[in-house]
Amino acid sequence: MKGIILAGGEGTRLRPLTTVTSKQLLAVYNKPMIMYPLETLLKAGIKDILIIVAPDHPGDFLHLLGSGREFGAKFTYEIQDKPEGLAQAFIIAADFIDDDNVTMILGDNIFEDDFSDVIKSFKSGGHVFAKEVPDPERFGVVKFDEQMKATKIEEKPKVYLSNYAVTGLYIYDKRVVEIAKNLKPSARGELEITGIHNWYLEHGELSVDVVKGEWIDAGTFDSLLKASLLAARRSGTNLALN
Ligand code: DAU
Repeated sequence: MKGIILAGGEGTRLRPLTTVTSKQLLAVYNKPMIMYPLETLLKAGIKDILIIVAPDHPGDFLHLLGSGREFGAKFTYEIQDKPEGLAQAFIIAADFIDDDNVTMILGDNIFEDDFSDVIKSFKSGGHVFAKEVPDPERFGVVKFDEQMKATKIEEKPKVYLSNYAVTGLYIYDKRVVEIAKNLKPSARGELEITGIHNWYLEHGELSVDVVKGEWIDAGTFDSLLKASLLAARRSGTNLALN
């Protein structure tokens, strides 16, 4: 199993915080944001990790994370010239993925869960994770039937589908590269990750589990603060303004 951390994009929603640095390097409590998704992959035993970054601050990621040796892993870096969609990461990573399975995590997604079991036992197809949220219109959304089997996945649906957001952790087999190459850009000009989920769903090869612990997409001011509070709580500090 190879790993990818997708840490590109322009972080426009977090300006001016992201005017001089990348979103994924911003502080979440006591460490840079990217360290959290990195720990999720390392905890699951993934040691060969490609870090995809925007052209603006690649040296800062290298400075922070280095070769990976310090973490008992090997890190490789690639640049995504323009933020043309999450699924483009698999095209950039084609040579890196080669004949292996791959787990991709978004560089601004913070999970409490341990995914070791599912990642270590993954054989083929696709496996994604959902979480009930109050604001599903911000995310990719999955609809389940009574047996909690996924029936439909849509990116930022305009018409209510369900409260289950698809989180930013994706496990796929190597076919994902060809599937990504065959996607057409969406109305917002991006190769959508949802197009990949739907390919596996339509072929009856997509598993969708519900995440048990907290999950935060730290891409807005409020969720960034919430991520810091969660990280502080996990390290034993209960912050309250008095
Ligand atoms: O966080 C989970 C959600 O992430 C999923 O529910 C959605 O299905 C998925 O499309 C994505 O939605 P977002 O609206 O959060 O995507 P965003 O454009 O904010 O990008 C997510 C992260 O990926 C962000 O940290 C920036 C990075 N990114 C984004 C794009 C479009 C890249 O590195 N390259 C890109 O081309």
